[in-house]
Amino acid sequence: MPMRAEGPDQSWDIVFFSGTGGTRRAAEELRKQMETYGGRPVVTELGARRPDTGQSHGAMGKQIILMFPVYAFDAPPLLYDWISSRSLSGVCFTVVSVSGGGEMWPNTGCRARLITAIEQQGGSVIHEAMLIMPVNFLIPGGDHLNMALLQILPDKIRALVKDLKEEKYIRKKDRLGLFQRAVAAAEKAGARRAGRQFTAGENCSFCGLCAALCPRGNIEISGNRVVFQNSCMLCMRCVYNCPEHAIQSKSSFVLKEGFDLDDLERRMSGVQLIPPEQCARGLLWKEVRNYLGP
Ligand SMILES: Cc1cc2nc3c(=O)[nH]c(=O)nc-3n(C[C@H](O)[C@H](O)[C@H](O)COP(=O)(O)O)c2cc1C
Ligand code: SF4
Ligand code: SF4
Repeated sequence: MPMRAEGPDQSWDIVFFSGTGGTRRAAEELRKQMETYGGRPVVTELGARRPDTGQSHGAMGKQIILMFPVYAFDAPPLLYDWISSRSLSGVCFTVVSVSGGGEMWPNTGCRARLITAIEQQGGSVIHEAMLIMPVNFLIPGGDHLNMALLQILPDKIRALVKDLKEEKYIRKKDRLGLFQRAVAAAEKAGARRAGRQFTAGENCSFCGLCAALCPRGNIEISGNRVVFQNSCMLCMRCVYNCPEHAIQSKSSFVLKEGFDLDDLERRMSGVQLIPPEQCARGLLWKEVRNYLGP
């Protein structure tokens, strides 16, 4: 039997991390919709450095919706830091992964290691869900596909809220095991290495924004040098938020067109979207097409 919180307050609080804004959008939509049902979720953004995020940091209750972007079939290290720093005894979780590709192999196990970590700290996971948001890494989705994903978000969140209200809980089995763990470990080492190779080009104005935004404290401004250290998790926040587009990488995983959801919405305002089978072609986007529906 899954553990349930006791007492009069059965509402869910939200804890999330977002590198480039996709998961933040989803968390904001979730908060809004929960409030229309009379919920008053405490929202906590992990790794927030902006003073103006508008997120509350009050005491959390005993039911938490944990949301995170998928990085190579796993959750970002920040989530593990948060989990391991507290006792989760008596706390129920809904775990929501936000990915670019959805529940396709080998993404399918992306919540499994995090769920084990929660259980090791005494918590109980009673529900799992997946959302798809625009990809911020390696493979650009294109404006039409990205906009379609933003437009369908409220419906997907409505379905999640309905499942929680009706206590229709889903738990999945880890289908990746050792393979997933190996890729996740390799990705973390790769992220640290790739992060060390970031450089600030000649456009850099030494404004310090990248250092202020980095959730790992990985960037130091030293005189007229921007120094990238060894704890990068490739969240891409510094790269896409640099006002001078000055951060360069030797690797080709950075999207040349950048990643800014507000900008996407401005560009696509009034544009008639093309259907999913045209803007999400091929095997790679199969789950995204399913998610968007006919
Ligand atoms: C380092 C890194 C690895 C990623 N790996 C995957 C992946 O394995 N599968 C996937 O579907 N999306 C992957 N993505 C895409 C993100 O999960 C997706 O763009 C997400 O919406 C980003 O959320 P955010 O804007 O809240 O940071 C990856 C992104 C990054 C930065
Ligand atoms: S945000 Fe960009 S311009 Fe500002 S210090 Fe960092 S690299 Fe330089
Ligand atoms: S250095 Fe940039 S990409 Fe790496 S963790 Fe910090 S903000 Fe994220």
